[in-house]
Amino acid sequence: MSFYINHVKLNRKERSPEGAFFSEMRTIEWLSESNTVRMIDQRRLPARLDHITCSSASEMAEAIRTMAIRGAPALGVAGAFGIALDAINHEFSTISDLKRKLKESADLLEKSRPTAINLAWGVRRVMSVLECQTSISEAQQQILSEAKAIAEEDVQTNFLLAKNGASLIDDGDTIIHHCNTGALAVVDWGTALGAIRYAYEHGKRVHVLVDETRPRLQGSRLTAWELDQYHIPYDIITDNAAGYFLQSGKVKKVFFGADRVAANGDVVNKIGTYMLSLAAHANQVPVVCVFPISTMDLSIDCGHQVSIEQRDPEEVLGLRYQGEAVAPENASAINPAFDVTPNELISAWVTERGIIRPPFTQNLTSLRL
Ligand code: MRU
Repeated sequence: MSFYINHVKLNRKERSPEGAFFSEMRTIEWLSESNTVRMIDQRRLPARLDHITCSSASEMAEAIRTMAIRGAPALGVAGAFGIALDAINHEFSTISDLKRKLKESADLLEKSRPTAINLAWGVRRVMSVLECQTSISEAQQQILSEAKAIAEEDVQTNFLLAKNGASLIDDGDTIIHHCNTGALAVVDWGTALGAIRYAYEHGKRVHVLVDETRPRLQGSRLTAWELDQYHIPYDIITDNAAGYFLQSGKVKKVFFGADRVAANGDVVNKIGTYMLSLAAHANQVPVVCVFPISTMDLSIDCGHQVSIEQRDPEEVLGLRYQGEAVAPENASAINPAFDVTPNELISAWVTERGIIRPPFTQNLTSLRL
């Protein structure tokens, strides 16, 4: 296990054809020598860059529930690898035994977090290769190779959507960014933060105002840490300061990702996204949402059909300020992890296949899904 302190530059060596870098370190990866999955433990950053390893779907479900791994696209890969872990590391007597066991693993993984569609998408894509399998060893190999393919595709997909998103960023922009949508939320690169990184690495000067993103602080803990690695200038702001900065006229764009995008373009994303979008809209600041196609859920008409994860109130109440509790001992709290931003507030939806402008439903056809 490695321990690093903040401001350690990640090793980056591989160049894409356009000259941007891919990170050497991946947020989540399959280790062939031990048939385990290694992930950056996101509960420890920025204090420590630790890894955890999982060897079963139930360990993976726990890592997802406790947010050692998080971010919609990373959850898709975690779900796929979770199935592969049980397929490879379990003893099966018959192919039906394997199918029954993996069905249980799939249910467990899908239930570990309900809102990001990518988790169910990753699990179901891997499970779909099982349908025509009749041999245990063939099924095991097919499942593992599908899960690895999902992880590889994630890097390429994110690189493409980052490039598309970067085309909406102008030299000198100040951008408000919500939650963490960088390499830590995917296998590599990132969605909204990937676009900011792509723009910066291609010579555009940007300044990021990082919403701290209460209560889990993905902004100040994870996004600020990533921006340090990329040497991109930023300031952390409290979530409730966003309106102040938007009103000042200095903020040129708002960028965030998505956990699910409905057929009408409503965006379900980290709690606070709705409030931020309202303030941006009121101040005529463009709101840009960046996500892979796997985050779209065309089976739902609007965002309000999505189940919003309610997390432990302790995440709100358990913080300490100067060593002291931030709420009375017996206080109660309500802690929704996501909210719904209506499509009318979004100026552009950026995917790996291109950019959709309003009206979303009409222009979605341009992606030829
Ligand atoms: O609760 P989290 O940290 O998993 O929530 C993550 C977000 O809401 C991100 O903004 C979203 O997944 C898009 S990241 C590529």
